[in-house]
Amino acid sequence: MSARRPMIAGNWKMNGLLADGKALAAGVADKRKGIGADAPFDILVCPPFPLITTVVDAVAGSGVAVGGQDCHMNVSGAHTGDTSATMLKDAGCGFAIVGHSERRTDHGETDATVKAKAEAALAAGLKVIVCIGETLEEREAGKTIDINKSQLNGSLPDGATAENCIVAYEPVWAIGTGKVATPEQAQEVHAAIRAELTAMVGGDIAGGMRILYGGSMKPGNAAELMGQADIDGGLIGGAALKVEDFWGIAEAAK
Ligand code: 13P
Repeated sequence: MSARRPMIAGNWKMNGLLADGKALAAGVADKRKGIGADAPFDILVCPPFPLITTVVDAVAGSGVAVGGQDCHMNVSGAHTGDTSATMLKDAGCGFAIVGHSERRTDHGETDATVKAKAEAALAAGLKVIVCIGETLEEREAGKTIDINKSQLNGSLPDGATAENCIVAYEPVWAIGTGKVATPEQAQEVHAAIRAELTAMVGGDIAGGMRILYGGSMKPGNAAELMGQADIDGGLIGGAALKVEDFWGIAEAAK
């Protein structure tokens, strides 16, 4: 584990009704309160949009942060179905995830879209988690590092700092598949991302910026992954939907 403060972030994706979100958020908040002010990590939960205000209320005063899973690049306007970063901030969010591979695939988001969304998040006063990652086909073609570098260059917002920006490396083939990257596979890509960040924004920012791993992270594999030099926490999908699993991963970050 590095000197960077680990972040354990739950991406709930399109799961849960109000009662589920309230219970899950309250459970995470209780665990977080149980370790008091000196928590050695940051905890974030990212519910679906309709659950955000309920979750913000449920975690109030606990030290758990709340984020949106996406945001629009504009502040307001004729964008049916979209939610702006300003709205997320107003609803009590501190973070937005942008560029998740499910957004890139389901909604055709390009690196340029992701970058614009990330910049909108920063402009709204949110911190942003920028997701990148290669597909299985790209990995098998030996393009893993090139793809991640290229997505990073295209998606990182102007004005990114170690405080306002986090990168999440999520190999697409590991998301929701139970096929986790080995610690060595993940560390190789995280180190390459940090090297590219150094070239892009300089060593000071790159050295302080957190790079999270995402893709079938579970309590049983989290410690080994987060024990790698450049892995600064996790962006967790399935295992973030159960308090015990999510907290088991957080405990592994200690
Ligand atoms: P899983 O943990 O379900 O593989 O999902 C990872 C992810 O996509 C988090 O954003």
